[in-house]
Amino acid sequence: MTREEMFVSLIEGMPSFDGRYSNLCCINNYANPIPNKRQGQFSVVFSATDDVTDERVIIKVYDPFRPSKFRMDCFEREGEVLQELIDKNRCLQLKKAINTTDVQLPVTPSPIDISLSYFATEILPVDIFEKFNQKGSMPIDDKIDLFREILLGIRALHMHKVYHRDLKPDNLRGEEKDNRVIAIDLGTAVLPKTVHVLSSYEKVQVGHPSYASPEACCGLYGHRELSIYNDYYSLGCIMFELFTPNTLYLELHKKRITDIISLCEFQMASEPESTKISKWHEIAHYYTNRLDYPTLSDYPNDISKSIINYLERILHGFIRFDYRERINIDEALRLIDICIKIRSNDKFEKELQKRHQVYRLNRIAKIIKMNTKYLSAGECHD
Ligand SMILES: Nc1ncnc2c1ncn2[C@@H]1O[C@H](COP(=O)(O)OP(=O)(O)O)[C@@H](O)[C@H]1O
Ligand SMILES: [Mg+2]
Repeated sequence: MTREEMFVSLIEGMPSFDGRYSNLCCINNYANPIPNKRQGQFSVVFSATDDVTDERVIIKVYDPFRPSKFRMDCFEREGEVLQELIDKNRCLQLKKAINTTDVQLPVTPSPIDISLSYFATEILPVDIFEKFNQKGSMPIDDKIDLFREILLGIRALHMHKVYHRDLKPDNLRGEEKDNRVIAIDLGTAVLPKTVHVLSSYEKVQVGHPSYASPEACCGLYGHRELSIYNDYYSLGCIMFELFTPNTLYLELHKKRITDIISLCEFQMASEPESTKISKWHEIAHYYTNRLDYPTLSDYPNDISKSIINYLERILHGFIRFDYRERINIDEALRLIDICIKIRSNDKFEKELQKRHQVYRLNRIAKIIKMNTKYLSAGECHD
């Protein structure tokens, strides 16, 4: 038994966690990570019953076996961000602020006492990552609706000046009622008061590289004022993944655009901090119209001709190489709403055509019937 397995079974077996929670069940495969599943490893996540309120909640415990200042800072920041989002619509709700509780690990030769930091949030039952896994059988209208909900969920964070910086399908969950999508895992998010975040960790890869913007990959990750654009870029990656069979990262790799980003990273590495942004503007301006980005129509899909251009505008608006040219979420929502209207008009027109056809066929059948009757009546008279 590994220490992680022992830890999970110890917590799951406790009749009461911190005197308040029962029936704990680890839900993030902490002890046995699934290969190829893009999951974070910052914490141990349990579902549990809150014995005070009788609701099921999520308990996120700071990983006791991988302590580091960076991880603890992320954990504490998540608690801080969640505090700011209390009672905010479409934002993950905190149920208990960061707290500590002592547990005893039954190891030989003598048990060890450890102090666990944790917080509790509401539970969001719908697994958006799983929905992405089933995208092959998802009708186009459902994809559009899902993406619209994702946009609304991220817009809710941005309205409170919280920028996520690690957006990807497994950091999105959904509510059952109204299909609302809500962002989770706010450990790398920034708040208005966070200035030039994580400058001491500039070398640390924060956020999943497949969803990180080119400027974030090139050393500008810590610039708070750029984080909103990183979220836009990640939304473009998420959109690409939902509407095509592949990930954008894989396609950029095939088209060697990732090589160009590596080259930019090399150029940016030697740039002093004070001129980094202006250097990036120069580089981004050079490449922004020179790269051959994949389009939705490159892949087999059921997107109708009437809306594909609007969807392409959102996608390419979000993934523009130069962050200054990216579209914002309101513009993306405006374009998505046009798609929804066109689709419902298309459906209405199809329905109308079908009704016309039925009407015409009925009329023809009636005329034939009348003629047959008339002819057979004539035959009788003769
Ligand atoms: N509020 C929640 N409701 C339902 N599942 C959750 C919730 N928070 C976390 N999870 C599950 O736990 C996993 C890991 O949690 P997350 O906050 O993303 O931490 P990590 O830093 O380990 O990625 C998520 O991918 C999700 O499956
Ligand atoms: Mg996560």
